[in-house]
Amino acid sequence: MPLPTGGHILFIYVLSLLFALVSAQDLSVPTSWRKPSTSRPLSERISISQDAINSILPQLDSATGEFNGIGYWQAGNVWTAIANHDHFAGTDKNKALVVNNLNTAFKLHAHYDKYGTTTMRFGGRKQHCRATEPIRTKIFCRMPLTLGMKSQTTVSSSVITKADANSKKQPKKNFSIAGSCNEATMAGGVFWRTTTDDQSINSITTGLYIATSALLAEITGDSKYTKAAVLSAQWIKAHNINANGIILDSVNGHDCTRSPSNWLFTYNSGKFIEGLSVLASVTKDSQWNNLMVHTVAAAVKSSTWQGSDGIITEGSSPTSNNDGVGFKSIFIRGLYEAFSRNPRNANLRVLLRSYVDVQYNALLDLAATKSTYSSSWHGPPQSFTTWGQLASLDVLGSAIRINS
Ligand SMILES: *[C@@H]1O[C@H](CO)[C@@H](O)[C@H](O)[C@H]1NC(C)=O
Repeated sequence: MPLPTGGHILFIYVLSLLFALVSAQDLSVPTSWRKPSTSRPLSERISISQDAINSILPQLDSATGEFNGIGYWQAGNVWTAIANHDHFAGTDKNKALVVNNLNTAFKLHAHYDKYGTTTMRFGGRKQHCRATEPIRTKIFCRMPLTLGMKSQTTVSSSVITKADANSKKQPKKNFSIAGSCNEATMAGGVFWRTTTDDQSINSITTGLYIATSALLAEITGDSKYTKAAVLSAQWIKAHNINANGIILDSVNGHDCTRSPSNWLFTYNSGKFIEGLSVLASVTKDSQWNNLMVHTVAAAVKSSTWQGSDGIITEGSSPTSNNDGVGFKSIFIRGLYEAFSRNPRNANLRVLLRSYVDVQYNALLDLAATKSTYSSSWHGPPQSFTTWGQLASLDVLGSAIRINS
């Protein structure tokens, strides 16, 4: 039946609207978000962040570089947040503290790795780079750059190369690997553990490999790093993004079985956003910027880890520590990278600033006891816990620079 003229025009209008929706992300700030801005001046924001750092330091064990109440990997995240604080505040006030304690920790563990995970091998060195990165410049100092390159090389032995995918063998593994899963090549996936029989490939390790390879590509201009970052970004794009745009956790490199669909953690999306932000600026390939923006829009509005007020609920654990408590700080760290690398995308920046400020105001209004914070960002306030304090640091630091 032919459509009447008016209906026809309306039909075309609706169709074009649909296409617009498919191609452009909705970067609007939900009106239901609680307090998406702050009027606190810069000097106050710097003090709030430094005071929070000072409140975790009494837990430091100087013999190990770790903190009472949290694990080794979580301690690494404390050092990263402190290094980033100096970067945001434009100071080197905490630099000696960070470098000395990382050196202490790294001397105790081969490859900086206490747990036998590829993730640790990488995280450790990346934090070291960050820690001694000269303030507000893109030049890493010589020693951490060398360490970063060594680390990338070490972790590269846990990656599935194109040749490995073709031969269905990976030199570090004693089982046959899946060359492809669901008709997409497994090349670019990074095994989570270095043990010969561990089959799991996960997004956090692959995301770290993308971020560090892309950073090294940016600094050295060596295309081997760009190629590595692109191959691994293609792996996550092909295998580990759900229909809502959220990054999934892991895939078995032998039989293609997947982590449960409800294993959705903020840090997987956060680390991918961070890596893609760097990769987009290195390659100037718009697909990576588009995928980064797509992932940001999905993640900051996902009902998986926040209600309509926008406050993150993941890892709320007032009475005991667990690894998930600190995932959200890694997520915020990735969002700040996207903010800092996209000065001309005003809508994206407003969305990211609003989201960080929602978390900032929740911590300060609902979860604070003086300069200590509950891991439950909705509150109530409670007495100090090392893990709650760890989880707060990236928000308090990012709020220094994400606001003007
Ligand atoms: C692979 O290594 C594990 C751990 O060493 C061992 O238990 C297993 O039997 C090995 N599998 C094969 C096929 O060699």
